[in-house]
Parts: sequence; structure tokens; C-alpha cells
Amino acid sequence: MDEEQDQRLASAYGGPAPRYTSYPTSPHFHAGVDGGKTRDWLSTLRDNEPVSLYLHIPYCDTLCWFCGCHTKVTRKYAPVSSYVDSLLQEIDVVAAAAGKRLPVRWIHFGGGSPTILSADDIHRIAAALRDRFDIRDDVEFALEIDPRELTTEQIDAWAQVGVNRISVGLQDLNEQVQRAINRVQTFEETEACIEAFRARGVQDVNVDLIYGLPYQTLERVRATVAGAMALKPSRLALFGYAHVPWMKRHQSMIPEEALPNAETRLRSAEESEQMLIDGGYVPIGLDHFAAPEDSMAKAAVSGTLTRNFQGYTTDVASALIGLGASSISRSRDGYWQNVSGARDYARAVAAGKLPVARGVGLSDDDRARGKIIEDLMCFGRVDLSKVSQGLDLTEELARLDAMRADGLIDYDGDTVAMTEIGRPYVRAVCAVFDAYLAKGAARHSSVV
Ligand SMILES: C[S@@+](CC[C@H](N)C(=O)[O-])C[C@H]1O[C@@H](n2cnc3c(N)ncnc32)[C@H](O)[C@@H]1O
Ligand code: SF4
Repeated sequence: MDEEQDQRLASAYGGPAPRYTSYPTSPHFHAGVDGGKTRDWLSTLRDNEPVSLYLHIPYCDTLCWFCGCHTKVTRKYAPVSSYVDSLLQEIDVVAAAAGKRLPVRWIHFGGGSPTILSADDIHRIAAALRDRFDIRDDVEFALEIDPRELTTEQIDAWAQVGVNRISVGLQDLNEQVQRAINRVQTFEETEACIEAFRARGVQDVNVDLIYGLPYQTLERVRATVAGAMALKPSRLALFGYAHVPWMKRHQSMIPEEALPNAETRLRSAEESEQMLIDGGYVPIGLDHFAAPEDSMAKAAVSGTLTRNFQGYTTDVASALIGLGASSISRSRDGYWQNVSGARDYARAVAAGKLPVARGVGLSDDDRARGKIIEDLMCFGRVDLSKVSQGLDLTEELARLDAMRADGLIDYDGDTVAMTEIGRPYVRAVCAVFDAYLAKGAARHSSVV
């Protein structure tokens, strides 16, 4: 593709669009879904269908200026340990609402930085989970890791409670970039952390990288990708930096004049992807890569890959229960999100309430459109004849015509498939099927 065409597509389709980690997306959650409603939804979960648990730890030692996650900086441990007290109360409240010991096949600790937890607190949470849920022997237990300041005692504790998959934030290896994002982390630190988990039997390793960061050049991005591959992870995530300072005020610490332009961002993504493919990794969805023998690469082939608030996953649970402040849950009935403030969260669970702030119930229309969007995000294609469930898509198909003329998609009357040049714009294609987008005034990050 020539440069002019590149730029034309970027300006036509590279504008803001949701990342589609859910459908409807979170700006359309509302207060009409409360603890009473979600109690009903939880009570209908069955004890023969494994669920997935997500535990959110919204604390970090220091704040990275690029961070888009829900977290807070603390240099003292007291707020973390009282947060753990609340988490244990919520585990009791949720288990009581379910009314049974639900089987659990997937556990994911995210944040923030769950690696801020002390060894004692790691054991306290794991014991509560085992008490209130039926944690299956084949549980996939994943942990997000900030490798800075992690101690041997903490690593031992995580390994003892059964972590068998880690996701390590590396972001970028260049020092000038690291200083500009307030995250100085040496290659050796990252390597030592991964090796420590491997020595304790944890072989499934993901590494997170970001392109579009301040002072990144193509050369620096290439050096970071090469460094990441040297760590031999089974998966890599390559995220485009989402710059949303109107939502995340600390991102205004990022010098905007040092941010790479849209073209460099696109080239960074393309070159990184090529390096990873040449290195033997299989591209998955929008931003993931997996070794061919990894379960995510297999799920992409077998059609079982899914997408949730943590991104791409092999988790096929019918329900995801989010625990902790701001966590989002999902069941067949709908989505719901916990209150974000640690104080409100603590107050609600101490009173024995489900700490729900908002959510959305799912209609048949939502489920069908959600499946179309999930298939596009996961596989870059969707067979409308199989998943549209009688939806009238006349208007959407008319809007896809321009995208087809521009070479972004192929459409054979049943299947919409992203073309090679269209792949970076999959969010723009998903947005065509989003019935809520026209209604809401939410602002999103750019597609490229
Ligand atoms: C929830 S964070 C937690 C990981 C852990 N605290 C760490 O920093 O290593 C997961 C990943 O989200 C990505 N991330 C965070 N903010 C981002 C942003 N604004 N744009 C793109 N990716 C972002 C980073 O790659 C990060 O490793
Ligand atoms: S990127 Fe990770 S360590 Fe940095 S502020 Fe965000 S959650 Fe915390």
C-alpha cells in the first residue's frame, strides 16, 4: 500500500472508537442495575458450570504516566491491607448471593498491581477463595506483574497459592521513553522476575509492550520487541498507547509533542508484528501474539477465543465474577460494575451488600450484536448468517459498502472478513454494528 492510501485510510477510519472489551460498552452502563438485580443474576448461576473470577487490586507503588488502569499510588501498606479485608468480605457476600460453592476454572488477579500484596495477604485471599468457591484442580490462575520491587517472599507466596500463568508489564526498554512515562525498569529486572517464576514451575509467560509512547522511534520499538522476544514468552501483547488525558489526568504529564504521529504509530505496529511473526509467533486478534503451541493460538484456530475486560482470553466461562473496587462482572443476563472508590466499596461490603454501582441488562439484540463484534475482534471475520439471529442489518451493510470499496473488508453475502490492510481498523468495522454508539457522547481513543 502506498503512503498516500495509508494516510487516507488512517484519516477516514483511524478516528476514535471503543476497544470493545464488552458490548454494550461500559459508558452505557447505568444505575438501574443495582445490587438487588445482580443478586438475582448471581443466584441463577449453576453449580455444574465453571465460572471465572477476576480480582482487582487498585494500588501501585508508583504511577506510570501512561497508565489507563483504575489504580491509586500508595507508599504505605495500610490502605492495601484494609482493602484486602474488604475483598474478603465481598467474597463472602458474593458467595452467599450465589447460594452455592460455584466451580471455578479461571482466576485472574489484575490491577493496578496485585504484586503489591504481602505474602500474608496473598495467602489470606487464596484461603477465602478456596473456602467459598470450588477451585478446580485444572484452574488456570493468572497474575499481572509489575516486576519492580517484587520480593522472593512474594514470588514464593504466589507460586504456593497456585499461580500458573503470569503477565509481565515491560512496555518499552529505552531509557528516555521510560523516564518520560515515569517507569524506569531495566531489562535485567524483568528477566530476573520471569526466571524466578519459571524456577517455581510457572512456564506460561505473557509480556506486555506498548507502542505510541513518547520519544519512541521505529528503531527503539524494534529494540524493545527484540528484547521481549529474547525473554521467550509464550504470549505477547502489543498495545497502542491510549492517550485519554480528559479521563486520566496524570496522562497530561506525558509530553504530547514527543508522542509519535499516526504514521509512526502504524509503522511501529506493523514492524513489531512482522518481527513477532518472523520470530514464530501467531498474531491473535487486534493486539496479541502467541507461540503456536500456546493455548491462545490453539483457541484462535478452534474458534474458542473470546474477549473480556482483560482483553483476549481462552476463558469460555458463562459467567465472570469481578471482585474488588471498579471490577466488572458478566453473566448471561448482563454486565455489572462495582463502585470505584475504595471507601464506598469498603462501606458497602461491610454492610453485607453487593457493592454494585451500575450495569446493563442484555437483550437478544445486544447478545447478537455482541457476538458479531466479538467474532470480528477475535477472528477478524464473522459469519452473519450464523450469528445475526434475525437482526435487520440493512443499514449496517449499507455502511459497510464504503469500507468494502476502500479495501478494508471482503463480504460474500454471509461473511464479513477483514482484509490484510483492513486489520488495523477492525474497531471501526465493529462500530458499524454498535447500536449504542450514535446515542452516547462517550469519547474514545483513536483506532490507530
Ligand atoms: C492493568 S496494567 C497492569 C500491569 C502491571 N501493573 C504493570 O504495570 O506491569 C496491564 C497493561 O495495560 C497496558 N496499559 C496500561 N495503560 C495503557 C494505556 N493507556 N494504553 C495502552 N496500554 C496500556 C500496559 O501494557 C500494562 O502492562
Ligand atoms: S501500568 Fe501498572 S504499575 Fe504502572 S500505574 Fe498502571 S497499573 Fe500501576
